[in-house]
Amino acid sequence: MPKQIVVTKLGGADVLEYQDYKLPSILKNKDVRIKHTAIGLNYIDTYHRSGIYPVPFDLPFCLGMEAAGEIIEVGNEVSNFKVGDRVAYATPPIGAYCEIRDFPEEKLIAIPDFISDDQAASVLLQGMTVEYLFERLYKIKKNETILFHAAAGGVGLIASQWARSVGCKMIGTVSTKEKASLAKEHGCEFIINYKEEKVSDKVMEITNNQGVPVVYDGVGKDTFDESIKCLSTRGLMVSFGQSSGMVEKIDMHKTFNPKSLFYTRPSLMGYTLNREELLNCSNKVFDKIKNEDVKTNIFKKFKLNQAREAHKTLQSRESFGSIILEP
Ligand SMILES: NC(=O)c1ccc[n+]([C@@H]2O[C@H](COP(=O)([O-])OP(=O)(O)OC[C@H]3O[C@@H](n4cnc5c(N)ncnc54)[C@H](OP(=O)(O)O)[C@@H]3O)[C@@H](O)[C@H]2O)c1
Repeated sequence: MPKQIVVTKLGGADVLEYQDYKLPSILKNKDVRIKHTAIGLNYIDTYHRSGIYPVPFDLPFCLGMEAAGEIIEVGNEVSNFKVGDRVAYATPPIGAYCEIRDFPEEKLIAIPDFISDDQAASVLLQGMTVEYLFERLYKIKKNETILFHAAAGGVGLIASQWARSVGCKMIGTVSTKEKASLAKEHGCEFIINYKEEKVSDKVMEITNNQGVPVVYDGVGKDTFDESIKCLSTRGLMVSFGQSSGMVEKIDMHKTFNPKSLFYTRPSLMGYTLNREELLNCSNKVFDKIKNEDVKTNIFKKFKLNQAREAHKTLQSRESFGSIILEP
């Protein structure tokens, strides 16, 4: 029987269980059956596991939003893929932490020859996130200075390289010397180790007291107030995650009015609304890799049955780059 990781009850990493499961006896007409070769671990998996992002299923449920693998069967109405194709995905339906699964053709992406399955599972969700954050939500520009938190994380190292490829000067925050060197090597122009320096003071020094036009904040609770201080007049606050916890209630007037700020809370799903958007987005990530503007960074590969340990590693802040699971 195939194996999967399920969330048995909402909570910490120890609620994850490795179990046998049965595949549906009939493959739906518009689905393909995929044998996974690599599974992407993303921060959102921890939000689904803990319950801060509710999922539309009853417990227990199989976790995960991203994987790569080979098609082993196709439904009767599948037209764009065939058995043997290498494919990946980075969207709901949730349920990637397993050996074999059925998945809708319309959300599937073909993996180009120059990208391995491990690379695809490590880069697709985080890379597509950087694409929409930097190219569509707010288009970063050459010689512009921006602020990005957790610059040595999975999303952060891709962002550092993407910004460099555009000529944009990214200020990245990190918590250790090792992460500082890594972010710098990946193209981050200025580094702030927030354990040693106050972020807003340093940003104002770098920008001659102007502040930055945009802050990308995936850390949330611990960084929100400092992020607001770093913005220039009419700047844009992009809250795209909360690795330190949910931002608490804010006073809208006090927070945004003094500098006439803009605020957005985006998600990748909102920027890959249809197949055209999904393919444009993934193709831009693949192009960045092909042109060697972005290289993938796999911090560690865990076995699927080590999902608890993998979640603990991601949440311990020890990791840099991406983590994948091997089915
Ligand atoms: N909205 C979207 O579309 C979207 C899509 C993908 C990802 N995201 C978000 O992007 C963020 C980064 O995701 P990722 O998978 O690449 O994770 P990650 O950046 O590899 O890991 C999180 C990092 O956050 C920093 N951090 C600061 N305070 C923390 C705390 N109290 N606990 C844990 N980490 C803390 C740590 O870096 P330092 O040690 O350097 O501080 C840590 O390494 C997450 O918030 C995720 O939800 C959003």
